[in-house]
Amino acid sequence: MSNIVLIGFMGCGKTTLGIRLSYHLRRSLLDTDKMIEREQGKEISQIFAEEGEAYFRGLETQMIAKLAETETDKVISTGGGLPVTPGNAPLLKKLGRVVYLKVSPETVYERLKDDTKRPLLQCEDARERIRELMEARQSAYEAAADVTISTDGKDFDAIIREIEEKTK
Ligand code: S3P
Repeated sequence: MSNIVLIGFMGCGKTTLGIRLSYHLRRSLLDTDKMIEREQGKEISQIFAEEGEAYFRGLETQMIAKLAETETDKVISTGGGLPVTPGNAPLLKKLGRVVYLKVSPETVYERLKDDTKRPLLQCEDARERIRELMEARQSAYEAAADVTISTDGKDFDAIIREIEEKTK
């Protein structure tokens, strides 16, 4: 069976939903951010600070290229910027069925306003940064996705049912 790959903006629920979905489908869960952190022995924020964003983006591409060769039957959640790097969309498609979890900027802001782990949101006006980044990324998410699911106002069970139906 092919992998189910979750993409979407920071705070869209990829990690939490990935955990729920993997239980529900009885599949193992992989998370590209966690795998990169483990491999590098550093947190993402430290990689950004010490090596820079471009270096991190390279690690993301290497990671999905490797997973596309080695993994099946998994649920795979990904970092929010991964589908935006040129060339990653076809790799994601090769990796599995790509599910885009769409969320509003307001919901992201409410979830992440006190977060300190996302380097891209450590700025004066996180609300505006979220809006700008999301707008800039929208078309990349849509181009990479096989299936798009709007998640605002839906509980996890409803989202999981929708993922199951649409990835059959
Ligand atoms: C990023 C999202 C983060 C992480 C890194 C960059 C982004 O993952 O990969 O901080 O560019 O949107 P989450 O989407 O899990 O927060």
